[in-house]
Amino acid sequence: MTIANNDITRRDFIAKTALVSAGLAFGKFAFASTKSMFNGNALNLLTTLDGKLALPAGRRKLGSLEVSELGFGCMNIAWAYGDPPSKQDSIKLIRSAHEQGISFFDTAEIYGPHISEQITGEALKSVRNDVVIASKIGFDIDFDSGQMMGGLNSKPEHIKQAVNYMLKRLQTDHIDLLYQHRVDPNVPIEEVAGTMAELIKEGKIRHYGLSEAGAATIRRAHAEHPVTAVQNEYSFWTRDPEAEVIPVCEELGIGFVPWSPLGMGYLTGTVKSDYQFSEGDIRKSLNFPRFSKEALVKNQPIVDLLIKAGEKHQATPGQVSLAWLLAKKPFIVPIPGTRIISHMQENTSAVKVKLSTSDIQELETGFNSIGVFGDRAPEGLKESHDIGTSLGTSSKGTNGKTPLPKTKE
Ligand SMILES: NC(=O)c1ccc[n+]([C@@H]2O[C@H](COP(=O)([O-])OP(=O)(O)OC[C@H]3O[C@@H](n4cnc5c(N)ncnc54)[C@H](OP(=O)(O)O)[C@@H]3O)[C@@H](O)[C@H]2O)c1
Repeated sequence: MTIANNDITRRDFIAKTALVSAGLAFGKFAFASTKSMFNGNALNLLTTLDGKLALPAGRRKLGSLEVSELGFGCMNIAWAYGDPPSKQDSIKLIRSAHEQGISFFDTAEIYGPHISEQITGEALKSVRNDVVIASKIGFDIDFDSGQMMGGLNSKPEHIKQAVNYMLKRLQTDHIDLLYQHRVDPNVPIEEVAGTMAELIKEGKIRHYGLSEAGAATIRRAHAEHPVTAVQNEYSFWTRDPEAEVIPVCEELGIGFVPWSPLGMGYLTGTVKSDYQFSEGDIRKSLNFPRFSKEALVKNQPIVDLLIKAGEKHQATPGQVSLAWLLAKKPFIVPIPGTRIISHMQENTSAVKVKLSTSDIQELETGFNSIGVFGDRAPEGLKESHDIGTSLGTSSKGTNGKTPLPKTKE
């Protein structure tokens, strides 16, 4: 099962939608800088987490949902960055992640489509009660064939039907956390939240979340029914959620799940200017600005900064990136993705890397003085994000991208 072996329709679908599902994009900044989110001492944050929340070691809370402090992204077993592994190897990878202590698995209807959910369900069925499965809806995908029928679709009836099919693919009677994958400009977020509340009542899902949502949309959804987690792109080189979204999550008691926490692989230091992207790799095929040859060279100082910080801790740059996210806030749970067991093991070990306050200060000062070359996503993809046009504004207008509900008579 490789992207290269897929039929034309699927390739075309991937080309059109992979980036949408991969999420992301931000602003028009060639060189974006950021303000520090560390309000003091990162180690104190962790101490507070241990003391006040009394969670078992290695566990975190997303709203009221307890998960392992690192999750596992299951998109990459279906598509995105090069040829996916075979079904057998993907199952082995997911089960190994679980054996390493990961109990939070992230998938979506659109990954494949359907393939990631099918494999994730198969891999986890024997440990279903030990794990938290998160998936996402919100695209117009044929329930049976997986063909893309249109763009976004968060109409209540569509969500409800999609969930029935997802449960079958995931071989379970409930989804622990169901996200709306992208804010639908045609459906008021209150209707989406109301639908999620109905599904919770029916026992088909336990919690719901939003992905690539801005602050205003998050507030409106939360007012309708409490949001458990927001999943937006966030990493050492993509700081957009720091402006509004993470503060709103903190204020409302919502968990935050950074996707592409390794900067789509760049922050591991393995994607250099001579990197050979394979045919199905969306970083190249969809022209992600930060993966142009020029950007790969110009952003190397960011990786060098992570390498330097890692020297003290015998940690790789990827591990420092994950440790940095974990130190940011106790309600942050990154979900790195990989196709390779040794990479998964390396990523999982990042929880052992404890960055000191001065490590973090050095990283923040260094990052602010360097900046990032290139946008986080191509222009077209940014359209699907419920964010503003400049760092510091994360929702369009005051209501976000979602229309206001019709006033009740
Ligand atoms: N909500 C959304 O819209 C959205 C969008 C995108 C992704 N996601 C979720 O977030 C998860 C993670 O995001 P992501 O996969 O896009 O990005 P990521 O985790 O930042 O990076 C994945 C890339 O890093 C490489 N990598 C991982 N560990 C490595 C290591 N130890 N050493 C060297 N390279 C390593 C992987 O290649 P190898 O396979 O070769 O290791 C892959 O190319 C996805 O699986 C998916 O579940 C959600």
